[in-house]
Amino acid sequence: MEKTYWPNRWIFILAAIGSAAGLGNLWRFPYLAYENGGGAFVFAIIIANILIGIPLLMLEVGLGQKMQKGAADAFGAIKKHFRFIGWTAIVLAFIVISYYMAVVSYGVNYFAASFTLEWQPDANSFFFNDVLQISDGPLTMGGISWPVLAGLLLAWALVYFSAWKGVKSISAVVKWTATLPFVILFILIIRALTLDGAGDGIRLFLFPDWSSLADPNLWLAAFSQVFFSLSLAFGVMIAYGSLNRKSTEITKSALWIAGGNFLVSIMSGLVVFGTLGYMALQQGIPVAEAASGGPGLVFVVFPEAINLLPALNSVIAILFFGMILLLAIDSAFSLLEALAVSVRDRFKKTNPKKIAFIITFFGILAGLFYSTKGGLYYLDITDHFVVSYGLVIMGILEAIIIGWLWKGNQLVDFIKDHSEIHLEKLWLFSIRWFTPLFLGILLIWNIYNEFQQNYEGYPTEALIYIGLLPILLAPVVGYILDKLTTR
Ligand code: PFF
Repeated sequence: MEKTYWPNRWIFILAAIGSAAGLGNLWRFPYLAYENGGGAFVFAIIIANILIGIPLLMLEVGLGQKMQKGAADAFGAIKKHFRFIGWTAIVLAFIVISYYMAVVSYGVNYFAASFTLEWQPDANSFFFNDVLQISDGPLTMGGISWPVLAGLLLAWALVYFSAWKGVKSISAVVKWTATLPFVILFILIIRALTLDGAGDGIRLFLFPDWSSLADPNLWLAAFSQVFFSLSLAFGVMIAYGSLNRKSTEITKSALWIAGGNFLVSIMSGLVVFGTLGYMALQQGIPVAEAASGGPGLVFVVFPEAINLLPALNSVIAILFFGMILLLAIDSAFSLLEALAVSVRDRFKKTNPKKIAFIITFFGILAGLFYSTKGGLYYLDITDHFVVSYGLVIMGILEAIIIGWLWKGNQLVDFIKDHSEIHLEKLWLFSIRWFTPLFLGILLIWNIYNEFQQNYEGYPTEALIYIGLLPILLAPVVGYILDKLTTR
């Protein structure tokens, strides 16, 4: 099979923005900003982007582009023994896509419900009882929740048919999925900012409380947010970089990707907090009470806010949940493509559609676990461990391998030769020092927190089997995959 490339650099940039901008921008970012000093947090996000986000993005895109391989073989090209680290990233990508798709399934359910505003009158009960049919805790799995499974199958169909022809189909799809959200966000911003009370919400979101910059928690939150948001450490950006022609510009592209992703976050914040301000005014409560993070914000608080709108409720709901689907789908298929590229590197003669199909099949199988009545708990636990440990450890490893262990590191020159602006010195400094240092602190801090109290108060055995075990098994499975695919 002949290798195919992105049709041009802009499609690559759109696909990368599509991957980066997802659910993380819509609910995680605004809520974190609100909790961590508003505008001060936005400032910290910019710093975190500059210090480690953009450098690691350049590293991943550059590595994929230089080696023309996905994560596994790109690391293998540096040193044979590093190849299983690439496979470990791929295993983590598989874990993430299997639960990320469950959240996309909630999105599918809400998009369908938007036409009749099915969550009226009680948005809370609709989410927990009708859609999730939630069990009483992670120790009760409670069988399949059919609406979630139905949404999951539909969501996987969308993801499969977007990624089944690799670059070719993805290039066609991202022209829409990575651009339309900007248009919809713009419409929703205008709606949100013209509501009474919007200013109070926006103030909470953006008003800088500079004193909170002294709080280490703010910085830790900012660094991990930037990391997850830029789709780093799971082989996605390596795979997307490998689909570039070798001559593609790198540094400016990375700046465009990080900038586009940041813009989606800010625009999302304006919509969410403008609307929360209105909601608070309508109900006579402080905005702080109306705001809650996590899935609750998107699937409970926002539907409630939509119920209160004076007009066009259903239209706004369709736009909002349609946008969630657009944002999430291209993040999801970027994970699929990360796996597919590494597999395609190994099985060059196999039809790409077949590879995508096999990944989809196993993805749905794994997704069944997150479609049970305990699914939301499982999703929460797995996400916590994968992001706090898997992602951070992978980032440290990438930085150490490229920055220190690669004798005669050729990536610096490669980036220099393929960039129109030159930040290589800063880049190398960040990869060698900032990245391992900041991520190391983040890691220690996370471990410390883990022992302070059980995450979200979940039972210890649930945390061990659903969170810790997958993380510990990831390198083992990565190692086995490496052996299985090497003759
Ligand atoms: N960046 C996506 C978001 O913010 O929602 C999520 C994501 C996609 C993370 C792909 C990691 C990844 F490899």
